[in-house]
Amino acid sequence: MIKLEHVEKYFGDLHVLKDINLEVAEGEKLVIIGPSGSGKSTTVRCMNFLEEPTSGHVYIDGQELTSKNKTKLVRETTSMVFQQFNLYPHMTVLKNLTLAPMKLHHKTKQEAEELAYHYLEVVGLRDKANVYPTQLSGGQQQRIAIARALCAQTKIILFDEPTSALDPETIQEVLDVMVNLAHEKNITMVVVTHEMGFARQVADRVVFMADGQIIEEGTPEHFFTNPKNERVRQFLGKIIR
Ligand SMILES: Nc1ncnc2c1ncn2[C@@H]1O[C@H](COP(=O)(O)OP(=O)(O)O)[C@@H](O)[C@H]1O
Ligand SMILES: [Mg+2]
Repeated sequence: MIKLEHVEKYFGDLHVLKDINLEVAEGEKLVIIGPSGSGKSTTVRCMNFLEEPTSGHVYIDGQELTSKNKTKLVRETTSMVFQQFNLYPHMTVLKNLTLAPMKLHHKTKQEAEELAYHYLEVVGLRDKANVYPTQLSGGQQQRIAIARALCAQTKIILFDEPTSALDPETIQEVLDVMVNLAHEKNITMVVVTHEMGFARQVADRVVFMADGQIIEEGTPEHFFTNPKNERVRQFLGKIIR
């Protein structure tokens, strides 16, 4: 469903991604971990061309992603949930959810609202349709952001540290929503997170990045029991509580 082939990324002189090769199968749940600055966000952002690789190829659902087709191809296939929820503060929850389906996916207002209420139900916040994001907790805002991503009904959802900006007491409610989502066989999920409990519960595969490279990959179990690389061991020693 997603393929990165020899992807390199430079920011000026800074070599941020070094020959990244990665395939994500349809329906796969992939978790990316690694230290800050290792290139996790850039990798995920290359998957939807929020960042264009300096060289290499990205394929989505069998089609090469290019600067020419990115708007259409990404819109049809991929949505993203960010660390900072990026909801529009001056719009109600319902407006936040219906905007893209109406503007980009040509839904009627009624269709868009039906979708919105459906996915609000999925994230357990149907009663919040008419409030503004600032009236919600961080965890609730992130659940709304997930509902918004779901409203696009794409095959792929990318998550970049969706719980890192949250108060500890609201992290679990967001993870619960993501775990439920992961039960959907057909959705392809790529999740940058340090929540190893989440990884253990849902990830088919975990990829560890350091210095712009993938240095180890395997099942969550592999990372819990027998990571090979010393850097991986040290890192996991710090984050697994
Ligand atoms: N837009 C940018 N311009 C310049 N440098 C960037 C930009 N985005 C990321 N970087 C740098 O690229 C490296 C990898 O960043 P990132 O992919 O965000 O890592 P991670 O998500 O693993 O913390 C870091 O050194 C970061 O400072
Ligand atoms: Mg990041």
